[in-house]
This record gives sequence, structure tokens and C-alpha cells, in this order.
Amino acid sequence: MSIHKTVKKVTTHQLQEMKNRGEKISMLTAYDYSMARILDAAGIDVILVGDSASNVMAGNETTLPITLDQMIYHATSVAKAVERAFVIVDIPFGYYQGSSTEALRSAIRIMKESGAHAVKVEGGREIKDSVLRILSAGVPVMGHLGLTPQSIYKFGTYTVRAREEEEAKRLVEDAQMLEECGCFGIVLEKIPSQLAKKVAEDVSIPIIGIGAGPGVDGQVLVMQDMLGITKEFQPRFLRRYADLDSTITGAVSSYIKDVKSGDFPNDQEKY
Ligand code: KIV
Repeated sequence: MSIHKTVKKVTTHQLQEMKNRGEKISMLTAYDYSMARILDAAGIDVILVGDSASNVMAGNETTLPITLDQMIYHATSVAKAVERAFVIVDIPFGYYQGSSTEALRSAIRIMKESGAHAVKVEGGREIKDSVLRILSAGVPVMGHLGLTPQSIYKFGTYTVRAREEEEAKRLVEDAQMLEECGCFGIVLEKIPSQLAKKVAEDVSIPIIGIGAGPGVDGQVLVMQDMLGITKEFQPRFLRRYADLDSTITGAVSSYIKDVKSGDFPNDQEKY
């Protein structure tokens, strides 16, 4: 008899079934073993090893500087921790836009080296060849439309996208195109909630929103934001579920006080 617990793993098939029966999908980012273990044990459906690691882990202003090697490092740590959740990894800026061959090579490196389950790419029709090529190798692909942070210097601002009719129409067409290509899901970031709802109704694959309102099939947040670690980031769509900045500051201050006063370690804490 196996001593291993049998855990029913989340798959693309299950995510599709969740959409079909109207069950919302929960998704959070994680970048390291310890946090991924906690999220997975808490029952999160999907963990995204987002290129937001560039911001929250490496302290960069944008997601652009993070490398494929760095993403694979984060993804490997996360995949090792996870028993149930579906793990998706962002292909970072500069590793899929050049050609579909480059995109496939990047996706294969992520899958082979990290043990993750799928990749995510930002963009619509302009990356269609790359999406198709990655899918042709049997790698599940999630799309990402709306505010796509890898294009921040094109947008010039982090404000809501697709408010204008033309951009909204293009976004709907791109979502349909990604579905036709065979993507298993799409992230919609920071777009009007009515538009996001329309996309979720128009396409049959799961639509995961961030700043896209309640009418989609699931929600994703950056873990550090929802746990109150990144205090300075305060967009309207962000709900904080903890104030870990204060909790950690309090704990570290107490530790410093105890070390300075000689209170730590005490008689029970020594050998
Ligand atoms: O990198 C990331 O964390 C993301 C989410 C914001 C969807 O792409």
C-alpha cells in the first residue's frame, strides 16, 4: 500500500468544469516554496508564478527585467511545494515575442526544468504564432489581455484599459482568437467589469480577472498585495486580507528588544 496521500490535483479539465458549473476559480501568485506550501494547503485552485516576482521579489519597478532563468528558479521552488494546485508560470518579457521558435524553447525550458503545469503569455493577435507553437508541443497556455504589464512603456500608465470602443472590440476578438487557438484560460487585467463579463460569456474557457469585476470565472491577486506586505500599492480592485507588514514589523521589533535585553534565549531555549 502506498504511504503517499492521494490528492486530487487540479487540471485544465477541472478548471473548465468549474466554469461550466459556475464554480469560481481561486488563483494567487507565489514565488517560493514556503508560501506556495501554505497557499496549496489552504486549498487555492491555481498558483501563478507571475513575472510580478520582478516587482515583489526583486524590487524592480516593472516586470521587464526578470529573466527566464530567474522565473524557472521561482517556478521550481513553487512546484516542489504543491500537491493539489495547478501551477502556471509567466514566460517573461523578451522570451516569446521574437519568434514562435523562441517561444516554444522558453515554454519547454519552463516545463522541463521547473515541474510546473502550464505557461502564461501576454498579448493577442500579435503573439498568435507563438501561442500555437507552444500549444502544438502539448504545453497548456493561458492568455493575458487588458493591462499587460510587459507593455507598460507602450501604455505609459497603469490605468484601466479598453474603455474606448475600439480597444474593447479588439480585446473581445483577441479573447476569441485565444480560445480558438486552444488556450485553456485567459487573465483579464484592469478592464471595465461589463466588458470582462461579456468576454466571460462570449468565450467558453475560464476567464480569470484582476481588477475586472465579479462577472468572470475566477479571481487572481498578487499574494504580497492581498496579505498587506506591499503597503504602498493601493489600487481600487485590491482587497487586503491581512496586514502582514504590521504583523512582521511587530514580531521583528519584539525579537530585537528581546535580543538587546538578553531576554532571548532563556533557560528553556538553550542546550
Ligand atoms: O505577474 C503577475 O502576477 C500577473 C498577475 C497580475 C495576473 O500576471
